Amino acid sequence: MIDKKSLNFWYKKKDLISWYKKPKKIISKVQNYYHWFPDGKTNVYFNCIKKNILKGLGNKIALITIDENWSENKITYRDLDNYVQKFAFIINKKSKNSNQIMIHGSASIETSISMFSCAKLGITHTVIFEELQSEAILKRIKLLKPQMIITRTKNKKILDFFKKNSKKYNYKIIHFQKLKLDKYTFNLNINDIIRLKCSHTSGKEILSNHHLFNLFTSGSTGEPKGIIHSSAGYLIYSKFSCQKKFGMKKNSIIFCVSDAGWINGHTYSLYGPLSIGATSIIIEKPISILNVKKFLKVLKTYKVTILYLPVTLIRMLKSIDPNIKFRSKNLKTLGSMGEPLASSIAKWYANSFVKKNNPIVNTYFQTETGGIIFSPEFNDKLKNKTYGTVGKSISGYLKLNVKIKQKLIELKIKTIWPGCMINVINGKKIWEKYWDKNGYFNLFDIGKLNKNHCLVINGRSDDVINIRGHRIGSEEIESIILKIKNVSEVSAVSIKDKIEGHKIVIFSSINSKNFFEIEKKINDELYKNFGSYALPKKIFFLSSLPKTRSGKIMRRILRDLLENPNKKINNISTILNKKIIFEIKKEIVKDGKRR
Ligand code: PRX
Repeated sequence: MIDKKSLNFWYKKKDLISWYKKPKKIISKVQNYYHWFPDGKTNVYFNCIKKNILKGLGNKIALITIDENWSENKITYRDLDNYVQKFAFIINKKSKNSNQIMIHGSASIETSISMFSCAKLGITHTVIFEELQSEAILKRIKLLKPQMIITRTKNKKILDFFKKNSKKYNYKIIHFQKLKLDKYTFNLNINDIIRLKCSHTSGKEILSNHHLFNLFTSGSTGEPKGIIHSSAGYLIYSKFSCQKKFGMKKNSIIFCVSDAGWINGHTYSLYGPLSIGATSIIIEKPISILNVKKFLKVLKTYKVTILYLPVTLIRMLKSIDPNIKFRSKNLKTLGSMGEPLASSIAKWYANSFVKKNNPIVNTYFQTETGGIIFSPEFNDKLKNKTYGTVGKSISGYLKLNVKIKQKLIELKIKTIWPGCMINVINGKKIWEKYWDKNGYFNLFDIGKLNKNHCLVINGRSDDVINIRGHRIGSEEIESIILKIKNVSEVSAVSIKDKIEGHKIVIFSSINSKNFFEIEKKINDELYKNFGSYALPKKIFFLSSLPKTRSGKIMRRILRDLLENPNKKINNISTILNKKIIFEIKKEIVKDGKRR
């Protein structure tokens, strides 16, 4: 819905960033897509790096990187600019006129330089998780059609895979490693970049809606969904949300523990903090922070002011060392991301790292929204009354369709905002699903407002499972398992898990007696396609699955029985094969006894 006041509010926010050409227009609609500040020209690299140097922050630390061995590296804004200048030069030399570059890597200096170099040159980047295996990468290559892949993999199998497919899919490779040189790869490391001599050039003037990046995520289709973000609208929203929700300033030191291939790794590790001129600490393997001693040392050494953690890691920290008491006059703001933060965990987090009753900036957003849409604020007056909720909207001009005392409803955003994705790769039909007939944006989450007007999220309304904050669609899992020989039916549902939020449980019927072999194949395929977090908690083999008369597998029944195998199932009349319910109950009870 286009609301005049809200448009004016966001138009004023255009001054948060610098422009080569200031926009005069607020918004335009191109086919189905809203384009913010359409006639404006800017550059994200200029706003995040060059501008800070021009403002005298050249010697200030922009990034602190921590690798998997806890070796730390401090990079000033000036050094970062030098790397980006040189790397952008290399990209250009290697492949003229690229418009899509895939970056395969974790949160690291190499990945960050690659992202900013693309931004400088006006090339769209797509970071994919380093843990993804060849099949999953190939799927994304086919969707994206990149002209170049930048990787820092140490895995020879993956590197060979990239090389093998480079001719067929017509892309060049840059490999950040000293490996054997050959005809397809261009191998370099940071020292090569430092040694390279090239003259500095300015960031390309690009239109506001130039695609800054794509990110693949899961939805209720069987395919990964490529979400596309703009340059200007996205950057304005990133900066605004950092300031509003975390109180971020240029002297802030933020430790956002996120994979690079996640929206948090873009908005709150790089683009948001650097657009403010702050210092951002990134860690290659988020799981490393479970080395509590080393983690606390980083907080102390670098005088971290904002700590922003995935909920799964907060839960893990609590179980490893429930008695953490970290006190520092610098650390004032705590944030959480990715999934619901239970009140008890929020309380522990506040008590362990800052002060009793301090608010936790429990951030609610999605890959699609670009940045936080709801959360408590760093200095929220409601303090611990916000625990168990995601607080309030980022602005009175970002309105949801919820009212206080309303029952749980499907959440939708009523007013448009500049951080919203601007398109989906190969996704005309998918895009249309996001917008309802009133022009509201569907979040596919269910929630309600509590008596303090804070939003409580209840879970997804579609068949998307959230594990450690990662989204996986049931259908995507099922379509992968169905490719295994002898698997005739499959359904993937989720079950609550104390540490990881949810875990996947698979129900399957197969034409084989070789359960062990098929179980192994299912595990292998899920690992290859998604990574370790998708490994199922349990695989049940059944004679068939509960189906409607039209043949649709009833995931709802499987989910209900998993939660409580003794539950009375209503509406049994719509099930084609009723007897299967008893078999499922028996198997679940048997499994429960075994644990
Ligand atoms: O269901 C919501 C859940 O994660 C989904 C978005 O996942 P993704 O696009 O991968 O982005 C993750 C970056 C935050 C949402 O639709 N979710 C996210 N944050 C919260 C949440 N559920 C409850 N509380 C949250 N704070």
